[in-house]
Amino acid sequence: MEKLPPITDKRVLVGHNTADDAGVIRINDELALVLTVDIFTPIVDDPYTYGQISAANSLSDVYAMGGTPYSALNIVGFPKDLFPIEVLADILRGGADKAMEANTVILGGHTISDDEMKYGLAVTGLIHPDRIITNANARPGDVLILTKPIGTGTITTALKAGKGTKPMIKNVSELMMRLNKTAAEACQRVGINACTDITGFGLLGHALEVARESGVGLIFNYNDIPIIPDAIETTKKGFVPGGTKANHLYAAPDVEYADRLGINEQYLLCDPQTSGGLLISVPEDCAEQLRNELTDAGDSAFIIGYVTNENKGKIRVL
Ligand code: CO
Ligand code: CO
Ligand code: CO
Repeated sequence: MEKLPPITDKRVLVGHNTADDAGVIRINDELALVLTVDIFTPIVDDPYTYGQISAANSLSDVYAMGGTPYSALNIVGFPKDLFPIEVLADILRGGADKAMEANTVILGGHTISDDEMKYGLAVTGLIHPDRIITNANARPGDVLILTKPIGTGTITTALKAGKGTKPMIKNVSELMMRLNKTAAEACQRVGINACTDITGFGLLGHALEVARESGVGLIFNYNDIPIIPDAIETTKKGFVPGGTKANHLYAAPDVEYADRLGINEQYLLCDPQTSGGLLISVPEDCAEQLRNELTDAGDSAFIIGYVTNENKGKIRVL
């Protein structure tokens, strides 16, 4: 994106110059659009589940900005020689059902013939221009809350290698299908300083964006970070996605790990997530209220650390 000319249009409220979740463009003083797109290849065998996961993942960036998804378009790459057309119908049905849960209308879409299956949504959301939540406003003293456990990358890598059990597949699928909708609504009610969703760059990669864009340091307590138990096992067995190693390398200069944290623990913190939770930076005096609102809505809420004015743009994992 650095090779593209900078955005100078005054209507743009969030563009590609900041490493944020979605673009935001103003319509008028009361209304702005939140725009995002995401597609990926199947990570579970069941097409209906895959459709739901991919849709939840695509919708997530709108929630991370504090927006409300409004409409969407399907984007499909379909290998018609490898799968019967019913498979595509099941994927699209999964996406449609998830979109309906998000009160979002899928208006149509576009399919190309492809060597590999791909599916996702281009999502349009709405937001009041004064209520945009970015990753650039975390403040020293804030409490950091994560709304889903991490570890979906290593688990789905094990699944692809045929090493999954039924309960393992069910558990990780439910986690990835869960919308960040109620979590985002709780954030808007309570009032938070910054937010991002945890996806391909892993917890540390996305947290580093918060640290850099906000000009603050982040402190995490490893023992407070929720990790799916199966993920600890699959990582020990060597199911480490290529993305984890890339994320680990990328984060290395700006992350200081406690000595007791070995390479597997470090890898888990860099594990790329599909449809991960929100990482929320909330003022300390609102943290308890937010945690209650999140758990009342059926979401998880793990306090995993806090924000400091030391070590700007960096992370320490205790
Ligand atoms: Co995002
Ligand atoms: Co995204
Ligand atoms: Co077309």
